[in-house]
Amino acid sequence: MPIETTPVLTGVRGAEPAPDAELVALPFGPDLTPAAAPWLESPVPVDALLAHYEAKGEPGEVVEVPTAREGSVRRVLLYGVGDASAAALRKAGASVARRAKGRASLSVVVPSEGETAALVEGALLAAYTFTIGNGRAKSVGEIVFLGGDERELRRGETVARATALARDLVNTPSSVKTPAWLADQAKAVAAESGLAVRVWEGSELGEFGGIRAVGQGSISPPRLVQLSYTPENPRAHVVLVGKGITFDTGGLSLKPTEGMKTMKTDMAGGATVIAAMSALAAFDVPVRVTGLVACAENSISGSAQRPGDVITQYGGRTVEVLNTDAEGRLVLADALAYADAELDPDVVVDVATLTGAAKIALGQSLGAVYATDDALAAALTAAGEASGERLWRMPLVDDYRAMLDSEVADLANVDRTMSGAAGSIAAALFLREFTGGRPWAHLDIAGPARAGSDEGEITKGGTGFGVRLLLRYLTA
Ligand code: BES
Ligand code: MN
Ligand code: ZN
Repeated sequence: MPIETTPVLTGVRGAEPAPDAELVALPFGPDLTPAAAPWLESPVPVDALLAHYEAKGEPGEVVEVPTAREGSVRRVLLYGVGDASAAALRKAGASVARRAKGRASLSVVVPSEGETAALVEGALLAAYTFTIGNGRAKSVGEIVFLGGDERELRRGETVARATALARDLVNTPSSVKTPAWLADQAKAVAAESGLAVRVWEGSELGEFGGIRAVGQGSISPPRLVQLSYTPENPRAHVVLVGKGITFDTGGLSLKPTEGMKTMKTDMAGGATVIAAMSALAAFDVPVRVTGLVACAENSISGSAQRPGDVITQYGGRTVEVLNTDAEGRLVLADALAYADAELDPDVVVDVATLTGAAKIALGQSLGAVYATDDALAAALTAAGEASGERLWRMPLVDDYRAMLDSEVADLANVDRTMSGAAGSIAAALFLREFTGGRPWAHLDIAGPARAGSDEGEITKGGTGFGVRLLLRYLTA
């Protein structure tokens, strides 16, 4: 396959850079002057240089210091670390990695204090690239971290690798990324990460009427993937459900070109679930976790479902499909109902690029969270703040539930009046019908799953949003 992601190599070595280190970055901050070191021999004293540039040591500041080494000029990067909080070091790491673009190697001296895992995470994620053939994206070949607590650094690396995996899955074009391909990726991840895996296909999907209906218009048939992580004496059972629409044309309720061109992203929730689960064993997560990824391509053809069709979801509830572009909730409903009926979860969390309305409401930086349980909403929101993937809680407005009443079926998949009002809430209310009253949260990541440009540790394209926050939630 012609797809290559730049390998983000990382090592952790002693506290001193190798004599031939190509580019060395050194922390400084309001309370941290760069240590005098023989390899930092600058023609201008370092403190004078920092004063000259009015550099205060804020996160994101990077000052280049020319140094004389073995008869040639080299550069050392001084990077600001601010208060050395997770947010500050994440930003600092990202800025340093971006400055090293195009270089073969970067050595980053780690500050002795602070949330150093976030420094590694920020640097590695900012260095992420995804190219096919001769793509123009450039990165640094290798990042080596010097000093610091190795366990912390490895933690940052594991989180970054999981996030990069989600980005790879999202960035892969849908010509490659069929439901079968996505299921195969999940199998490969399971084999590597010690997870059990089960895949439903063809007639095995018989009871999963939503997944079948959405997938029936595509030449690439649907799949349901289950990943299982089972530690000894688990404290609880969490089920994660991901939307895995490998491409969303809208179906016969076809999207216009503008709205369709980024729809390879529509399996981002599924990618987040697969990627978060890839790191559970590494973090010794003490809860049992089951991941369900409902994979289908929402395509058009003579066999596609039609507006007005009535389908039967897992568990027997009927749904009138008034808009085939509201397909995510149909595949998720099957997985949620299956989780309730068969998995006896203590908590269910679904992740989905579900509605354009969520993106309009909160933009690209925040995800929407809906929850039937206040403690769960609070825990997820706190995990979001700590991990840099922010959530904003939205209301499940009971009064709006009647919008989804149908004349002919138990439920309609969109607002009967097609007003479009409260579209993100309506979708959440639809999903709630299938959760069996269990503690449940729904993350609508339609906005933050994809970025239009590089910013901090975020790279253009798939962001892997949700991986860091779910890992934080599950390890807390
Ligand atoms: N995948 C889309 C939601 C989406 C839109 C994600 C923009 C990311 C960016 C979803 O399947 C969809 O099409 N939702 C419709 C629902 C509507 C028909 C009720 C929408 O948001 O327009
Ligand atoms: Mn859609
Ligand atoms: Zn969709």
